[in-house]
Amino acid sequence: MAVASRLDTGRAFAKVLLPTLAKGVIVRRRSAMAMAEWTQADAAAVDTMTSLRDRYGPEPLRLRVTGRSVALVFDADDVARLLDGSPEPFALATTEKRAALNYFQPHGVLASRGEERERRRRFNEKALRPGNVDVGSVVRDEADLLVRHVTSTGVLTWDSFAQTWWRAVRRIVLGSGARADEALTDELKVLRQNANWAFLHPRRHGVRQRFERRLRDHLERGETGSLAAVATPDELVGQVPHWLFAFDAAGIVTMRALAIGGSGAAGVLESARLWPTTPVILRESTLATRWHGTWLPEKTTFVVFTPYFHRQFGDAYRPDLWPNSEPALVPFSGGPGVCPGRDLVLVSAGLMLDTLREHLDVPVLRPPLPATLNHFALRLPAARR
Ligand code: HEM
Repeated sequence: MAVASRLDTGRAFAKVLLPTLAKGVIVRRRSAMAMAEWTQADAAAVDTMTSLRDRYGPEPLRLRVTGRSVALVFDADDVARLLDGSPEPFALATTEKRAALNYFQPHGVLASRGEERERRRRFNEKALRPGNVDVGSVVRDEADLLVRHVTSTGVLTWDSFAQTWWRAVRRIVLGSGARADEALTDELKVLRQNANWAFLHPRRHGVRQRFERRLRDHLERGETGSLAAVATPDELVGQVPHWLFAFDAAGIVTMRALAIGGSGAAGVLESARLWPTTPVILRESTLATRWHGTWLPEKTTFVVFTPYFHRQFGDAYRPDLWPNSEPALVPFSGGPGVCPGRDLVLVSAGLMLDTLREHLDVPVLRPPLPATLNHFALRLPAARR
């Protein structure tokens, strides 16, 4: 088994892991995103991964971390093995994720283990079927309003897009009664900002309780046509914070897909391939496992840095890659832990993308597409009439 030198462990942290943390794992930070784009941090991260792979070979590379077993993954088949072997023997609920997610979704499926996880997973899969909600009319409604704004101002900015996106998301998840409840998603953002600092930040019990009360009020209405109607408030209240949180990524992916002139589900998938919103997929082994002839101990954290794999398919918009059969093309993860919201995202984000793109002068970005793209700074001009 290859073990990285101290210097190379330092490089892996400095160039791959810490810059990803700095951008914000749970909620993106504006200043850090701008800095990351300026330095093209993801290009340096992919180069570092490539040089480690050249030096140590394709098997998982152990980093020298005191008291922990941590391994970087380089081989597409090893990625498939980790994802197919989830949640046993490769648990999704790693120590880091549990610490971060405890802030705003302690009962979420991603932070759970064992029988409880299985139950919550089944619940999510069933609840998030796109046919459960009237996505089409919600997205078209909200997109039409935004198109009017874009036509009058001449430009689509992130801030105006995000406002529209969150209105649509609150309607999809909680119904029209939540459309204007910006305080709900703002409170969730505060909880998510604390989660960025996982181990270090004191818990905000006050904000958490306020958020949960507001959420419960919406769930009690159980509005037909929204996800709030698919189960009881008690069943939903532990899972919905993750849904609201994860729709943020879908908005970011949509805005970037617009910038490259993407369309439909393949446009959404390509945006998420080029700029994955979950750039680090983590798994923690629940027993000792054997890799290329060597044993790695129980509780080893495996790190899959997805941009390294995704960019092997190039720096251009390639809708032909989808639907895909490549084991390491995993913007929505894969195997039994694959994102259960994937289809709902492809339908809602794909529709938002297709409705807006007709009214914009896109693409604004052409190949080679940048390794890091700051969505906050995107400005997409309205189509010329
Ligand atoms: C572009 C948008 C999205 C992307 C790229 C994405 C990607 C992912 C990825 C990579 C994972 C696996 C995380 C891991 O292994 O640690 C995941 C898990 C999950 N996602 Fe998504 N997601 C998106 C949107 C959504 C939405 C909108 C929902 C719900 C409405 C959702 C619900 C979930 C849930 C519940 C899990 C946990 C699954 C489990 O633990 O088994 N996601 N997502």
